[in-house]
Amino acid sequence: MSNDHRPRTYFDAIRVTREILATSEFILNPGPLGLENRLQGEAEQLVAAAYRSAKGQSISRMDLYARAREVFPENAGEALLSMAALRAAGRPLQHVTGIQQFLDHEYVVGPDVLIPRPETEVLVTTAIRELSKCESPPVLGLEIGLGSGVVSIELLARFSGLRMVGSELVREARERASKNAERILGADHKPAERLTIVEVASPLSVWDPFESALRTDRADFVISNPPYLIRGNEAEPDVVNFEPEEALYAPAEDPLYFYRIIAARGREFLKPDGRVFVEIPHERAPQIRELFEGLPGGGWRINVFSDLVGRERVLVANIM
Ligand SMILES: C[S@@+](CC[C@H](N)C(=O)[O-])C[C@H]1O[C@@H](n2cnc3c(N)ncnc32)[C@H](O)[C@@H]1O
Repeated sequence: MSNDHRPRTYFDAIRVTREILATSEFILNPGPLGLENRLQGEAEQLVAAAYRSAKGQSISRMDLYARAREVFPENAGEALLSMAALRAAGRPLQHVTGIQQFLDHEYVVGPDVLIPRPETEVLVTTAIRELSKCESPPVLGLEIGLGSGVVSIELLARFSGLRMVGSELVREARERASKNAERILGADHKPAERLTIVEVASPLSVWDPFESALRTDRADFVISNPPYLIRGNEAEPDVVNFEPEEALYAPAEDPLYFYRIIAARGREFLKPDGRVFVEIPHERAPQIRELFEGLPGGGWRINVFSDLVGRERVLVANIM
């Protein structure tokens, strides 16, 4: 891309980026709002990211338009053209901008963590809603598979008296979650004290790290968006090519692996009125429900909630 294409104004920056993205063979899926809106939205995010990388400070969408006729900083223009080219060549938007919005906050993401999904916002908002109905606010929660930290951090931001213990297999993801917690929660919320991050020795290990971290403490809830794919043709190429394997594939070629283990042993780590919140693949919802309900001796009361397009997405299991 030559410097002649460098945008002169903020308006130009959005227009030029949009034109570059429109030529991409990788951005064909219109998304829920249609292709035009998707291209416009991605262009705005790239312009904001280029501005941030050049100036070291954020710019809101409103400011992009308020400055439409002003000169777009020259070094931001150069950064923008490289970012737009990467995106047009198929790199996920969030890997180019380094940011994903999740509920109330912006999370730093990269190739080492799953890009947080809107479906997981349903998991978190369901947990917040259900936990808010309890007589007393939760004080201890466990998360299996922190990734970028979105789930635990949003819960910590919502419940001021909560402490979370979160496990994560991948070292880079543990570091990412810790940094996101510091940045988003801020020093006043004591992120280091309130989020304990525990290592996991192998993909097959689920409860071991919590056994040593908790000793005799029992949690109010367990929450997880576990890996639930099996290798083969279950995911889009975009996902398979760019997301970390550990975040996608369940161990032992068993897509129900985590659900099976959570259903079987979750109670041991919970208070008598504790509960489990898990994100589920909608096409396996009946099997997962059966895992919890069909345990010898019973013990779980189940509710399943749907996402914004009506697919069963979150299972809540209450100890009976
Ligand atoms: C589907 S991602 C979810 C990440 C994040 N919670 C979210 O919702 O965006 C699953 C995460 O679990 C981690 N993981 C895989 N096996 C694990 C295990 N046995 N124990 C703990 N974490 C594990 C992966 O590295 C990945 O970060």
